[in-house]
Amino acid sequence: MIDKKIAAMLNEQVNKEMYSGYLYLDFANYYADEGLDGFAQWYEIQAQEEMDHALMMRRYLIDNGIRVTFGPIAKPDKKFVKLGDPLEAGYEHEKYVTSLITEIYNVAFELKDYKTMQFLDWFIKEQGEEEKNAEDLLKKMKLFGSDAKGLYALNQELGARVYVPSQTGPAK
Ligand code: FEO
Repeated sequence: MIDKKIAAMLNEQVNKEMYSGYLYLDFANYYADEGLDGFAQWYEIQAQEEMDHALMMRRYLIDNGIRVTFGPIAKPDKKFVKLGDPLEAGYEHEKYVTSLITEIYNVAFELKDYKTMQFLDWFIKEQGEEEKNAEDLLKKMKLFGSDAKGLYALNQELGARVYVPSQTGPAK
């Protein structure tokens, strides 16, 4: 049985991951409206990954005998002026999510909850990758996005992203 505090934090994180998915779908809506279908596709896939993260945490809680409960998912309310704005917001959001995961990890460490630490190892690594992807995307946009040909090529590149379901290792 995992500690009540950890269970509550992970349950809350399920909501946060779903919000991340909602936020990235909102980015995709913006890019679809701007005619950048590749950017939209990239964020649609990112949203699917976020839902995977939420489901993985939900499953972990259920497999450990925790009754999962859901609260409302916040409304994405970012306003975009420039095409790079969602990329900027995405990078900031991933850094925020990393801080949330790290906080849960810290509590698991304090409680000597090695099982949850093992479960969270995947997420720690994933956050490193997600922050890097978001930062790389932002850098590319700054380098090439102000030129029509560069933007077109970037849109093509992002449109080639393929969804791969996320999964943790054997820890349950
Ligand atoms: Fe679930 Fe983008 O971190």
